[in-house]
Amino acid sequence: MSIEFDQSVIETVRRAGTRALDWLIPSDDCRFELTDIVLSAHPSPTSESQEWMLSVRVATNNRALVLGQFADLSPDGFRGFHDNYVIGFVHSAVLAEHGLELGRLVQLQLDVHESPSARPSDAYRYLPLSEALARGALTDASPLARRMRRYELAHLLVAGYAVSGPSPGMIDAIEEFCRDHAGVTVIDAFSGTGSLARVALVAGAARVSCVDQSVGHEAHGTLADFPGRSEFLSADAFDASFEWPEADLIVADPFYDHTYLVTRNLLPRWRGSVSTVIVNLGPSSAMAWQERNTCAIREAGFSVETRDAFGEAIAWCTVR
Ligand SMILES: C[S@@+](CC[C@H](N)C(=O)[O-])C[C@H]1O[C@@H](n2cnc3c(N)ncnc32)[C@H](O)[C@@H]1O
Repeated sequence: MSIEFDQSVIETVRRAGTRALDWLIPSDDCRFELTDIVLSAHPSPTSESQEWMLSVRVATNNRALVLGQFADLSPDGFRGFHDNYVIGFVHSAVLAEHGLELGRLVQLQLDVHESPSARPSDAYRYLPLSEALARGALTDASPLARRMRRYELAHLLVAGYAVSGPSPGMIDAIEEFCRDHAGVTVIDAFSGTGSLARVALVAGAARVSCVDQSVGHEAHGTLADFPGRSEFLSADAFDASFEWPEADLIVADPFYDHTYLVTRNLLPRWRGSVSTVIVNLGPSSAMAWQERNTCAIREAGFSVETRDAFGEAIAWCTVR
């Protein structure tokens, strides 16, 4: 269903999209031009409401590509619609579609610093949900805010322009798995503050181990009310000498540019010790990217079912 939107919304999106393209680094065979923006609504697979979808079409040298879709929008979300989402989305989608060839893309950070002309750092940081709502970066009715409230998750992870976590699709998948398999042990790989681990515990997991290379995530208090059932391990997940704890389920929510490293390098290592891995493969519309990852998953000895959730492809990998 296509919907008529207020012209100012369209302008915001266009401005944001165009500005995002200014930050892409063109080469002889790759130039970018924003050609089309589509806002639409779809019935939600998980509730009676509709999910709102934004598609951004960008032409690269006459070949029109739908680079991806972002669905964490809601009807009243447009009031506080924030162009950072578009930029983060465009950025992530291009990165995913073109892989590391465009790894020189500059990540920007507009939503919390006030100077769009300043080149922001690549660093990611945590933004309290309350602040994101107050700034209009997210609305109460959005699928992500609703899920964060349900699980009492306090922090968004913001990387460059993009909201990088928690992923609403991952939340739904973990909720479903842990409800169906009460008492499982879970590793939250690339855990950040442990938001997904918290979802697992609330939904019925017995115990979680969070693995992230950054230190001090426990200080955010995400798992403070589960003493004795959670641990934080500070480690580089790609370090071959790291000994992964025992678990029934591993949930992996890496940055998009790490996805292939996970499916190619980590899944073969995990195969011997877990039965199921749920991994966020990134933007579901990046078809070549998804194909490459699902091939790697199969080669690692797993069968895979991929579900599209809020514009991301969530892969359920089961040991064959
Ligand atoms: C997409 S975020 C995860 C978001 C998190 N699941 C959430 O819900 O907030 C990716 C995480 O990967 C971590 N990370 C990046 N490189 C890593 C590595 N080599 N080993 C372990 N963690 C890493 C980052 O510190 C970051 O917390």
